[in-house]
Amino acid sequence: LAPSLPAIQAGGAARALAADGGAEVPTMPDGFLWGCSTSSYQIEGAVAEDGRAPSIWDSFSHSFGRVVNGDTGDVACDHYHRYGEDVELMARAGMRAYRFSVAWPRVLPEGVGAVNAKGLDFYDRLTDALLARNIQPWPCLYHWDLPQALQDKGGWTNRDIAKWFTDYALIVAGRIGDRAKHWSMLNEPSVHAIFGHGYGTHAPGLTGQANYYKAIHHQNLAQGMAIKALRKAGGAGGWQLGTVLSLQPVWPVGGLESNYPASLKWDALWNRACLDPLLKGSYPELLAAEFAPLVKDGDLKLIRQPIDFLGVNYYSRMHQQPDPQGLFGTGYGMAPEGTRRTGMEWPIEPDGLAEILVELKESYGNPPVYVTENGAHFEDRPGPDGRIDDGDRIRFIRDHLMAARQAIDEGVNLKGWMVWTLLDNFEWAEGYRRRFGLVQVDRKTMKRTPKASYDWYARAIRANGLPP
Ligand code: NOJ
Repeated sequence: LAPSLPAIQAGGAARALAADGGAEVPTMPDGFLWGCSTSSYQIEGAVAEDGRAPSIWDSFSHSFGRVVNGDTGDVACDHYHRYGEDVELMARAGMRAYRFSVAWPRVLPEGVGAVNAKGLDFYDRLTDALLARNIQPWPCLYHWDLPQALQDKGGWTNRDIAKWFTDYALIVAGRIGDRAKHWSMLNEPSVHAIFGHGYGTHAPGLTGQANYYKAIHHQNLAQGMAIKALRKAGGAGGWQLGTVLSLQPVWPVGGLESNYPASLKWDALWNRACLDPLLKGSYPELLAAEFAPLVKDGDLKLIRQPIDFLGVNYYSRMHQQPDPQGLFGTGYGMAPEGTRRTGMEWPIEPDGLAEILVELKESYGNPPVYVTENGAHFEDRPGPDGRIDDGDRIRFIRDHLMAARQAIDEGVNLKGWMVWTLLDNFEWAEGYRRRFGLVQVDRKTMKRTPKASYDWYARAIRANGLPP
């Protein structure tokens, strides 16, 4: 995920995207699965309803100065009450898969122990609503909203969490697993470790290198233990089990040799700390000394579970350089000159997605992959008729699908695509000012209004390809 320096300097790893001007619409392989992803805290709201207890994101967003404008997920998109309408939106676009996350504090308010039946009921209703519209439910068991009660016991810094998570996973799968067949364990564990436990800019707001390493190792362990337990509980021909990682190629700023060590370090911290133990059975050499005291006999074997799919979330490359002030001695720098950027200031580098996918094929055994997130925030400006003509978002998604198409031509085992995301929602520390949705949500009325990108995505699904 960090190509060799000469390859970077030659721009060689950056694939020239196939010329695209022909009359024909490029198509995806038959059976390509189209859908979208969301997460519980970002859209559900109803934080105190039907027995849900607070999560670390409730605590964090209600702490002064943590989230832009003091935004919280208290109401979010009110999806808890409007899920029927949201499923309709997916169905109308022709989506066939929906990755949503289950809020642990709805199911187990204390994190362990007593099950809150009403919390499970919600996911039961959602599952039925999806199936009624012929959309596969893809539950993700953890998208960053840990029960606060577990944080009070150390959360992801406590090794016991592997067991807590596994018990919770079995409870959820026991309830909707007769209908939901595709299970993701964690969402972007490295991002949760870096921002939530290293830099402290996400919940739970912990800081320091030691907390990062613990959060990584214990998430990896929890994921392994849960996959193993679900595999056993599901029996033969049971569930498709996987996990979702944020994978972004890391390049040295300016292609400079002096920045190369920083890029390798960041690649290890962001990408390979989760990818390598899962698919190769070891931590990256660069971080081995830090992980050593945490890794007990049998841990690496437990983490290296066979998976049925890998979910890849891709947004951009990352360009790194040394930063003595940075927690890990590294810091972000500029992308190559001329690189366009999204409203998040993230560089737009669709070829980086092809780079990741090909790397998974060449160095990680070509696992079945779904892109489980890809999308962008741009400053959407409603036209005089109130409609949002978000051409830049369309172009972003289309260019990434083109890169994916090219990776498939190179033999990558990519089976589907879930756009991030259906609705404008709570973008973590950035609050509601950042909007990744195909559908606009009026913050006062909660009215949903599809953007032009929604219509484009529906056309892409219908064509199983990439209309202009
Ligand atoms: C990845 C995260 O999984 C998701 O929660 C977030 O909203 C998007 N990236 C955009 O930042």
